[in-house]
Amino acid sequence: MRVGVLTGGGDCPGLNAVLRAVVRKGERFHGDEIIGFLDAWDGVRERRTMPLNVDFMRGTLPRGGTVLGTRRGSPFDHPDGVGQVHETFADLGLDALIVIGGNGSLSVAHRLATEESLPIVGVPKTIDNDIVGTDMTFGFHTAVEIATEAIDRLHTTAESHDRVMVVEVMGRHSGWIAAYAGIAGGASVVLIPEIPFDIDKVCAHLNRRHDKGRYASIVVVAEGAEPIPGTLDVDEKVYDKFGHVRLGGIADVIAREVGERTGFETRVVLLGHVQRGGTPTAFDRVLSTRFGVAAIDLVHEGGWGQMVVLRGTDIVPAPMEQAVGRTKPLDMRLYHDVAEVFFA
Ligand code: F6P
Repeated sequence: MRVGVLTGGGDCPGLNAVLRAVVRKGERFHGDEIIGFLDAWDGVRERRTMPLNVDFMRGTLPRGGTVLGTRRGSPFDHPDGVGQVHETFADLGLDALIVIGGNGSLSVAHRLATEESLPIVGVPKTIDNDIVGTDMTFGFHTAVEIATEAIDRLHTTAESHDRVMVVEVMGRHSGWIAAYAGIAGGASVVLIPEIPFDIDKVCAHLNRRHDKGRYASIVVVAEGAEPIPGTLDVDEKVYDKFGHVRLGGIADVIAREVGERTGFETRVVLLGHVQRGGTPTAFDRVLSTRFGVAAIDLVHEGGWGQMVVLRGTDIVPAPMEQAVGRTKPLDMRLYHDVAEVFFA
């Protein structure tokens, strides 16, 4: 078969490992020809491609980013975008397309598969781990490792200066990275988008710790965390051209407020895109490889409109529709039954 593949949305450690596995299984076991589209859907519309083969993919397993490049955006946003996608399928003689992406790319893939009857399968991707239908996405484990290592390092400098460190991690809709890194790094407070936070309680808790003779606290906050409405002034939201709210900066607000209310010296650490860069962990390399192998197999089973997902320890197909228009919140048992035990 002639199979196209693209990587869409924000990059994520493990993308190259998925591509490598698609190519390996496709070329060596199914006799496929794999065509990579550059810069996500733009490459499909504009027919910008590169051949992907086993030789080219050598050495890419541990490399972060994506050899294909990635972008946000959708063919549905262009006047004849969908027509261009159809033309690309016809002109290149494509038998299938594998879309490796987050909610946005999978929504587009789902529409093209259902409304346009195009032969498309999906692979869910995001460091945020918030895609519905899969127990975990690749890239998440890597982001948690990076955040945890940072928190470990912050403990010693925080202790030396008796400071409160406010560490902002990614997670626009969900607190998966914040909760995992907070638990793994021994944070005193973890603030997540799922639960609007009460700055009074945060300060009271930090004071209580201090009164018990403890000092130097680590507050981990997900970038999408918000205060209880009306309790704290936050900056006006800024949106990018794709309607994505530009997050980042809530840690500054919290640190300033904690400093003013408690008198503790505070510092802010924004981990930002460091969490998305560099080499994937061994766990993510394995998950990505399993996803890639399963995706090309799904192509050969004609599983159009489906994506490969992790359920328990199995990789299985699931309708892409599940990932569309919603996000998977943090499992609250992890927050209330585990993380909070260490806040007291
Ligand atoms: O969705 C993944 C993610 O890493 C979010 O955690 C973050 O808010 C966003 O992407 C950042 O996007 P950009 O790379 O466009 O700044």
